[in-house]
Amino acid sequence: MPFLDRMDCEPDFEDVVETWRGAVLTSLGQRESGAVTAVAERVAEPVAGTRDMPVMARLQINQRLCASGCERDTRRIGLDLSETELMWAPGDALGVWPCNPLSRVEMALRALNLPEETPIVLRGHGTVGLKEALLRHLDLSRPHPAMLAALGGPAPGFLPDLLKGASLRVATQDVPALFRRMQPRLYSIASSPFVSGRVVELTVGINSAPWPGVCSNWLAGLEEGMNVPVFVQPTTHFRLPQDDAASIILIGPGTGIAPFRGFLQDRAARKAQGKNWLFFGERHAEESFYYRDELETFLHEGFLTRLDTAFSRDQAERIYVQDRMEQVGADIWQWLREGASVYVCGDATRMARDVDAALRRIVVRHGNLSMEAAEAFVAGLTREGRYLRDVY
Ligand SMILES: Cc1cc2nc3c(=O)[nH]c(=O)nc-3n(C[C@H](O)[C@H](O)[C@H](O)COP(=O)(O)OP(=O)(O)OC[C@H]3O[C@@H](n4cnc5c(N)ncnc54)[C@H](O)[C@@H]3O)c2cc1C
Ligand SMILES: NC(=O)c1ccc[n+]([C@@H]2O[C@H](COP(=O)([O-])OP(=O)(O)OC[C@H]3O[C@@H](n4cnc5c(N)ncnc54)[C@H](OP(=O)(O)O)[C@@H]3O)[C@@H](O)[C@H]2O)c1
Repeated sequence: MPFLDRMDCEPDFEDVVETWRGAVLTSLGQRESGAVTAVAERVAEPVAGTRDMPVMARLQINQRLCASGCERDTRRIGLDLSETELMWAPGDALGVWPCNPLSRVEMALRALNLPEETPIVLRGHGTVGLKEALLRHLDLSRPHPAMLAALGGPAPGFLPDLLKGASLRVATQDVPALFRRMQPRLYSIASSPFVSGRVVELTVGINSAPWPGVCSNWLAGLEEGMNVPVFVQPTTHFRLPQDDAASIILIGPGTGIAPFRGFLQDRAARKAQGKNWLFFGERHAEESFYYRDELETFLHEGFLTRLDTAFSRDQAERIYVQDRMEQVGADIWQWLREGASVYVCGDATRMARDVDAALRRIVVRHGNLSMEAAEAFVAGLTREGRYLRDVY
């Protein structure tokens, strides 16, 4: 079943702009005032395109990066920013405010026993209809403790499962307190403006277990031309070296490839002279070698100096990017001695920790250093901004 019912869930451009505009007005406490319009113009203008006042991008690309039959679904998503003034640089992330699927919204409406137009007052948004609130502003995945109490105290789980068949008696003004607020999701920008122009590209892994992730599935279900509320979240630290002659080692398995595609496009467009080395990993080369043609072209052109891959499930034992790093540790050490910067992006829970440990082992072994001296060396890299991580 499609995740998104376009007829009802496609954001109408004007309505959505108005909803977000309400947030600014409410924060001023002047929503009903005659001075609202003038104040809104003054205040909304400088903050448009921020977390609390996103702007509308139009979906232009929604392409599967995994072969058919693959157990994973990862998408190349392109969003046209032409109607916005948003600017970005490689290393920045795009914030996306998703919609809940209509089936979940309708289930929540049934459980609440309230008409969909019931006016609901939401902090930061003023008064919106109940259906609109459930579609865009309330989290229908993770139950709030107040909802668990209203449902009679079940164990926390997936809210749609808990709401199935439920019938609540709730006063209108108490509805917002039953739910967590929807949060925007961040995605590393996967293209350089030099190459993709006003279209910002993302690499989105579709979360499906144990339950469907809200934003990744919403994006996967969108069709060309649909509106997506977005903002740019500039990076605080994850930038290319200022010196184009500096070498970079990029370690980005899975969706961690995203910012590095942007980095490589950017450096290639600027004809940066520094060497570029990419470590990429996924489960199977045939099914999930994201951007393979693009990367191999960079390699054949000599722009990508080295490309090392780890396809974890193409052989009996798992092989990961850090295993490849250790196999070529002497070369990594040489690059580090020559001033290369190391970048890591992707899974924070296991990959980033294991890659960090592998890097330290490489420094000990090939630098012929004690563990303490290796720790000091890596701390020095970090201090100099030559060991940078963007992990989630
Ligand atoms: C700086 C940054 C950059 C990022 N860049 C990328 C990127 O380039 N590509 C990318 O794919 N991702 C990226 N992410 C991750 C991304 O922001 C989202 O976290 C990811 O897409 C999941 O969002 P979702 O809405 O699809 O899933 P969510 O709805 O947030 O769900 C996340 C997980 O929680 C589980 N879940 C749902 N409901 C419950 C419940 N009731 N109880 C327990 N578990 C539950 C789901 O099964 C799912 O596995 C980045 C994150 C950050 C912070
Ligand atoms: N819930 C979902 O449905 C869902 C879907 C997509 C992503 N995510 C989450 O989002 C994050 C990023 O996912 P992703 O799509 O970028 O891919 P990922 O899950 O990080 O996998 C990318 C590659 O990294 C490998 N890997 C696993 N453990 C590793 C380790 N300790 N060190 C190095 N490599 C390791 C994987 O191998 P193996 O898998 O063969 O071990 C795979 O080949 C992860 O936290 C992931 O759990 C969740």
